Amino acid sequence: MYQFDISAGSKADLYRDLLSALEALTADEPDGIANMANAAALIWQYLPDLNWAGFYRVVAGELVLGPFQGKAACIRIPFGKGVCGTAAATGTTQLVEDVHAFPGHIACDAASRSELVVPIVRDGTVIAVLDLDSPEPARFDAEDAKGCEALAAILADRLA
Ligand code: SME
Repeated sequence: MYQFDISAGSKADLYRDLLSALEALTADEPDGIANMANAAALIWQYLPDLNWAGFYRVVAGELVLGPFQGKAACIRIPFGKGVCGTAAATGTTQLVEDVHAFPGHIACDAASRSELVVPIVRDGTVIAVLDLDSPEPARFDAEDAKGCEALAAILADRLA
């Protein structure tokens, strides 16, 4: 009998399984908060070495904390501030190998050493960001960025 072991897979395997689980869990659910909550739980379950995984939503022109896993975090982040605000303002993925070297990094959890933030874009507008933090320096690479961008693409139409 096949025994599913998350830790045994390659990074490509992890993202393939994570994306298909997210696709299945969110396909028929119109509630955006429920979908972000399950997405944060799946990311936390599938990806090793994280200390925070979750969402900030764009509300009235600033980022507001959404569903997440990890320690309690900063609630509001202005566009352009920190890694999340930079991803939201520029609409581009921010892959930060050393958060201490990122000007304006917002330290919600002092344990964070590296960070990946992916904007979630609908009809050309950033509607949220997905934020992953790790206590390991340089935890994230281009494969993580690609995997999380695919995840953001699935969610873009499911956050209403
Ligand atoms: N470090 C982020 C803030 C959000 S927390 O990591 C959850 C930033 O600089 O935008």
